Amino acid sequence: MSLDTSHYWMPFTANRQFKSRPRLMKAASGMYYTAEDGRQILDGTAGLWCVNAGHAHPKIVQAVVEQAQTMDFGPPFQMGHAKAFEAASALAAMAPADLNRVFFCNSGSEAVETALKMALAFHRMRGDGLRTKLIGRERGYHGVGFGGISVGGIAGNRKHFGTALPGVDHLRHPLDIARNAFSRGLPEHGVEIADEFEQRLLALHDPATIAALIVEPVQGSAGVIIPPKGYLQKLRAVCDKYGILLIFDEVITGFGRLGTAFGADYFGVTPDIICCAKGLTNAAVPMGAVIAKQSIYDEFMSRAPENSIEFYHGYTYSGHPLASAAAVAALGVYRDEALFERAAAMAPAFEEAAHALRGLPHVKDIRNIGLVCAIELEPLPGKPTARAYEVFERCFWEKNVLIRTTADIIALSPPLIIDKAQIDMLFDAVGNVLKTVK
Ligand SMILES: Cc1ncc(COP(=O)(O)O)c(C=O)c1O
Repeated sequence: MSLDTSHYWMPFTANRQFKSRPRLMKAASGMYYTAEDGRQILDGTAGLWCVNAGHAHPKIVQAVVEQAQTMDFGPPFQMGHAKAFEAASALAAMAPADLNRVFFCNSGSEAVETALKMALAFHRMRGDGLRTKLIGRERGYHGVGFGGISVGGIAGNRKHFGTALPGVDHLRHPLDIARNAFSRGLPEHGVEIADEFEQRLLALHDPATIAALIVEPVQGSAGVIIPPKGYLQKLRAVCDKYGILLIFDEVITGFGRLGTAFGADYFGVTPDIICCAKGLTNAAVPMGAVIAKQSIYDEFMSRAPENSIEFYHGYTYSGHPLASAAAVAALGVYRDEALFERAAAMAPAFEEAAHALRGLPHVKDIRNIGLVCAIELEPLPGKPTARAYEVFERCFWEKNVLIRTTADIIALSPPLIIDKAQIDMLFDAVGNVLKTVK
């Protein structure tokens, strides 16, 4: 096939390298992509951590098609349509405790920007306008908006883009391979890293100036960093002590990745605000959402002047009909097919298969939780990222398996419908490539 690849400036992609040998997909169904050359490719990454129910689920496809035929678009400002309200109700019903007020946007990045602005506005509305600072975490990924890269802690995502937001600081990340290598589930060591939130950052900044702490329950994009036992509970307790809002960025951990609806459920820690996206629609149509505690919404409603807009924020495509239809259908599929329970049931087999790679060349750590794992490699001397990239390429071209890598970490996060034979296929492919990689 001759395809002109020159015009598309690809996101987070080594464009020149890609275009020298394009990896193209043309169809997808269930656990598999079809590559442009016709090969069936096992999806080890749920697309990009998002196709949790498997590709082209008929109920989601049908919902999107029907909605497109019925009403393509409705203005979301000062107007509404039933599907957006239904989607919000379905999401609220799935969310923990009293997180039941839903603000829609179009991506994880927008969910983060929305949540940060909501937190700042919340304090301001209550007359606590001194709370303007935000705390994130090193190696945190919160999308690519200016708020997200500011609270995020991935150096490469920040360095080209100026000074970002002022008044932001970061916790250390809790990855500690020296003490926790090859941990299964939550690492034993490192809960004390949470103490620096109070002892270092709050002491430095004055807690009365902090609006919110934002963390991913499990840090996904920067290499699957799993919180040590008791760590998130400590962060929650410190936020409570000082009136700081706790935001969980659940763009990856939402919708069953850990075998529960949200990471909040897995850890038994309830944040004040959840950001989600990706699996919300099973990725059939872009959509993000911020789920806030009812008490946060109520503050806005009770304090804004009557008949005024309470929150000056929104997107042309907030609650887009196609996305709303996809969300209602996807959340229904998760529930009716018990996919989160299925993920929990498959997690032990996934864990066994992952840790069976221990001892293979270059493997420095393996860590897992739910249906996500990281296999961290020793980098090729002088060539960081090259070794993992070679594994990624060879898995795709030689083993017909899609994996994902970040730096020298292989991250696997298949759709929740994966079966035992496919788990074996996935890890056999990675293992066999690792045996022969440079
Ligand atoms: C935790 C987290 N937050 C935010 C985002 C950004 O989402 P999007 O790419 O939809 O903007 C991601 C994407 O991977 C993510 O993992």
